[in-house]
Amino acid sequence: MKLPQLDIGNLLARFPIVQGGMAVRISTAPLAAAVAEAGGVGTIAGTGMSVAELRQEIKKARQLTAGIIGVNVLFAVRNFAQLIKASMEEGIDFIVTGAGFSRDMFTWGRKRGVPIIPIVSSARLGKLAERLGAAALVVEGVEAGGHLGTDRPLREILPEVREAVDLPLIAAGGIADGRDAAEMFVHGASGVQLGTRFIASVECTAPQPFKEMCVNTRPEDIVLIDSPVGMPGRAVRNELTEALLAQNPPPIVTCDHCLKRCSRRYCILDVLNKAQRGDVKGGLVFSGISASKIKEILPVAEIIKRLIKEVEGA
Ligand SMILES: Cc1cc2nc3c(=O)[nH]c(=O)nc-3n(C[C@H](O)[C@H](O)[C@H](O)COP(=O)(O)O)c2cc1C
Repeated sequence: MKLPQLDIGNLLARFPIVQGGMAVRISTAPLAAAVAEAGGVGTIAGTGMSVAELRQEIKKARQLTAGIIGVNVLFAVRNFAQLIKASMEEGIDFIVTGAGFSRDMFTWGRKRGVPIIPIVSSARLGKLAERLGAAALVVEGVEAGGHLGTDRPLREILPEVREAVDLPLIAAGGIADGRDAAEMFVHGASGVQLGTRFIASVECTAPQPFKEMCVNTRPEDIVLIDSPVGMPGRAVRNELTEALLAQNPPPIVTCDHCLKRCSRRYCILDVLNKAQRGDVKGGLVFSGISASKIKEILPVAEIIKRLIKEVEGA
């Protein structure tokens, strides 16, 4: 299968391979830039960052590559509008929003000529996003890591969204190799988004124990937890997920009201920060089911080279 280029608004990526935004500070400038430099599309996750920190990350990525770099922000965070507007001022190439979207962000994108790409998990939301002015959609299934907007597999959702909208679709969730990716192109995807596969890369700034948890993981060790955001989240089983499943969440120590709405059952920012600092027992290690298919930590260029070869051989 010949791999198509990815064409979104005024952006043309050599390879239709998108690195998914991963909070908190799992996908930062070095990873996003390495993917962009290899001809794919890199994404910095802005969720959990201050505006100043995100501006710095964008500047850092720009110093590392002239390739395509976007920012992903979870709609649920209180400083959503500030993070999006600051990213646009920094000249970001595109914006991806997870877990919801609002009408006004499309207006900000139109004013600045920045493509807005919402993440959707149904044809209904896909159609709404298209009407509001989305440039493309990330279509994410239950296989993905992080917060989930559905309990349905990508292979069911993607054909429904393809049928319903006329936008480039980027398939996300459970894609670890060229075989998975080729199947998505057959189902009408214009691109594929990988998260977990890129955690297990040399350039990802996640700590080594975090990366190792995303390699050779048994499928039964990738579980679903309830997040205070009001959605389930997919993560690697550890002491924390066991405590959450046993209804024994860690107490909240401080709260800086980072979410627009929060169940206050525990602090999601705190447990994600813990994992990002290397506490992979007490922290939350978000990961997709694809972790069970990933065998080794590789340089980004090698991951992309293998993916392309596998798709072209499929
Ligand atoms: C550690 C981690 C953090 C994530 N954080 C975010 C996020 O902040 N915003 C978002 O929209 N998606 C987030 N995701 C989802 C990814 O962007 C991507 O769509 C997903 O991981 C794809 O599935 P895969 O991991 O099976 O490749 C996260 C995923 C992981 C594994």
